[in-house]
Amino acid sequence: MRVGVFDSGLGGLSTWLACTRYLAEAEYFFFADTANAPYGDRRVAEVQAFTKAAYQRFLQLDVDALVIACNTATSAAAAPLRQYASMPIIGIEPAIKVALQESSGELLLLATELTVRGAKLEKLLRDCDPERRVRALACPGWMEIIEGQRVDWRERASDYWQEKIAAQLGDTTALVLGCTHYCWLREEISVWTGGSAIFDGNDGVARQLYRLLHRCEPPPPAAPREPLTLHFSASADAEQKMVAAQRLLQGAGVRARILPF
Ligand code: DGL
Repeated sequence: MRVGVFDSGLGGLSTWLACTRYLAEAEYFFFADTANAPYGDRRVAEVQAFTKAAYQRFLQLDVDALVIACNTATSAAAAPLRQYASMPIIGIEPAIKVALQESSGELLLLATELTVRGAKLEKLLRDCDPERRVRALACPGWMEIIEGQRVDWRERASDYWQEKIAAQLGDTTALVLGCTHYCWLREEISVWTGGSAIFDGNDGVARQLYRLLHRCEPPPPAAPREPLTLHFSASADAEQKMVAAQRLLQGAGVRARILPF
């Protein structure tokens, strides 16, 4: 079984890791569209074009399913892509439904500009949040700090939190990470919020991937079977991105190799 996983950058590797807990036996092909990142500041039509180009690439790799491990690309481009795609497309969306079910107070959704402004989020909130417990906050520039992977990126991400997000927390009791890049800061965010509940869409995507490929409900997630193998490609700076990816994934026992773009 061959599975494609796609993001604008390294955030989608957090989604990939979740997928390996349900489908360890699959062969994974990851593509980071680093030449066009960040997607969050782009126009919808641009993200649709990038997503189409990525899809065509995965067609050549003959994958059985494609995971869009990017909330922004899912918001802008998953629906039109499904109209012509010849393989199942699994998109990621902010885990608002689960967060509303599992927490009782106010929720803060952190996502990119395009996701926050998107019609998809508007519909999701209309359908699931009649009491208007969710507030959405766009975090332009945060993805770049995470994606840049400079030696001091965690400090810079923390400064961003203090300057742009901390004052917006109000009575928030739970956070929804609506950008896969932010998942790499999950532990820090838990500390910065003094232990607020944190939700993201990775587990939901992995379970949906399992359902589509196996046509049954997934078993409970397993501990990752090491070493995990990943075919990695990027539209710019592939070697440097691969080093950054290895750093982010350290401890996960990953054996990655670069596929030429
Ligand atoms: N990781 C992405 C997401 O989940 C996109 C970040 C970006 O390219 O702006 O939205």
